[in-house]
Amino acid sequence: MARLLELTLNGRPRVDAVPDNRLLLDYLREAVGLTGTKTGCDGGECGACTVLIDDAPTLSCLTLAATVAGKRVDTVESLSRGGTLSAAQRGFHDKLGSQCGYCTPGFVMATAGLLRRNPHPTEAEIRAALASNICRCTGYVKIIEAVQHAARLLATGEATPP
Ligand code: FES
Ligand code: FES
Repeated sequence: MARLLELTLNGRPRVDAVPDNRLLLDYLREAVGLTGTKTGCDGGECGACTVLIDDAPTLSCLTLAATVAGKRVDTVESLSRGGTLSAAQRGFHDKLGSQCGYCTPGFVMATAGLLRRNPHPTEAEIRAALASNICRCTGYVKIIEAVQHAARLLATGEATPP
């Protein structure tokens, strides 16, 4: 069965016909063409597919597209404005928080979700917020520094909201 899915995607209303069994990850990448959201483990283990649903970081590989009807879904493509990186993106860029970069969209979205609900996170809160995301390249030190830097940029108004 298919149904009409109405949602707000990256700030814009959208309606698409989606099969009941279509994953949000596949809907975003294949139907909409938003390939910034990555397929990693495809099983809820790595966090590469993280998007925000009503500002809450969510694994899109474990979410049926039909369940986001009426909700706000934000992908990594929504963060920069007019070519200006958001605080979460600047944090990772400035502090070299990525190496191969495959995991980075997921980490950036987890960071955006964290800073939207808690603009001044402690290191423990940052580690907890990123606990569902795995990076195969880094030792996580740079990633934690990236999130702390993003919070500083946000606090000083040097970067746009995450
Ligand atoms: S692809 Fe979703 S958690 Fe790995
Ligand atoms: S930077 Fe390569 S997997 Fe994280």
